[in-house]
Amino acid sequence: MILFSGTSNKPLAEKIAKHLHLDVSPVEFHTFPDGELRVKLDVDVVDQDCIIVQPTSTPVDANYVELFFLADACKSNGAKSVTAVIPYLGYQRQDHIFRIGESASLHVMVKSMEAVGIDRVVVCDLHSIKIPEFFHIPLTHVSALPLFAEEIKKLNLLENSVLVTPDMGGIRRIKILSELLGNLPYASIEKNRDLKTGEIEASNIEGKLAKRAFIVDDMISSGKTIAIAAELLEKNGVEEVYVFVTHAIFSKEAPQILQNSKAIKIFVTDSVVVPKEKEFEKLSIVSISDIIAKELTSNP
Ligand code: R5P
Repeated sequence: MILFSGTSNKPLAEKIAKHLHLDVSPVEFHTFPDGELRVKLDVDVVDQDCIIVQPTSTPVDANYVELFFLADACKSNGAKSVTAVIPYLGYQRQDHIFRIGESASLHVMVKSMEAVGIDRVVVCDLHSIKIPEFFHIPLTHVSALPLFAEEIKKLNLLENSVLVTPDMGGIRRIKILSELLGNLPYASIEKNRDLKTGEIEASNIEGKLAKRAFIVDDMISSGKTIAIAAELLEKNGVEEVYVFVTHAIFSKEAPQILQNSKAIKIFVTDSVVVPKEKEFEKLSIVSISDIIAKELTSNP
């Protein structure tokens, strides 16, 4: 087995490799003055099972192109199989056409993955359970929820607590976590997003609240969903808010919005690299490398 990393999240690739007792194999990346990319594998892949670790987070398009070139390089140099580990799957929020005239962007990426010879994809905490339907190659969907359950248990604050999803789309997620935590009660916030401006508003809460809330979501982009949810919970009598989110795809202003939010602590995973300049006091990063490595070894 050979493991390669794109440039998107080398620290995660190194951690996964370590769990698998492998090294990250060398690749030469070169960007020409006009912006074109060239990749060259610096090891022999003939008859090898290759793993490529490449979350397709920002810069999304560039990271996808790197993945496509790496996969194609593996296959055209004789690799037996290519497994793409894409813990954060870019374009997953564009999984269908919302308005006439749009492209089904995620479908384009899936077709491209299949076209370059990727045999299997491993993803983490997808935005929608419909996404696996778009793949004609095996897709393994791992989750950070067991990791979050452990972190919540470690806080030792289960009493007087409730799980909260900041939008109805997260209800399935929250039910799974509730089960992992001995049927901890849950509530959900009704969030509405203007499809044109992206602005969100949240006003209704379904379910009984408690002194403490654990907000759970799949991703943070602008940070506004979390900030608005935490504020709404506080207005409704919640005294302490903790946040557990898988993908920290922090946009420029997100760290500040989150640090200034009513949340006490924000847990994210390392599915996406959080650069030093985007770290903030309330942030805590837990690794999903173990979960991914276990999946790769138990179902090679
Ligand atoms: C939306 O449905 C997702 O589950 C997240 O809640 C959303 O993408 C977070 O975005 P932002 O941080 O920009 O509010």
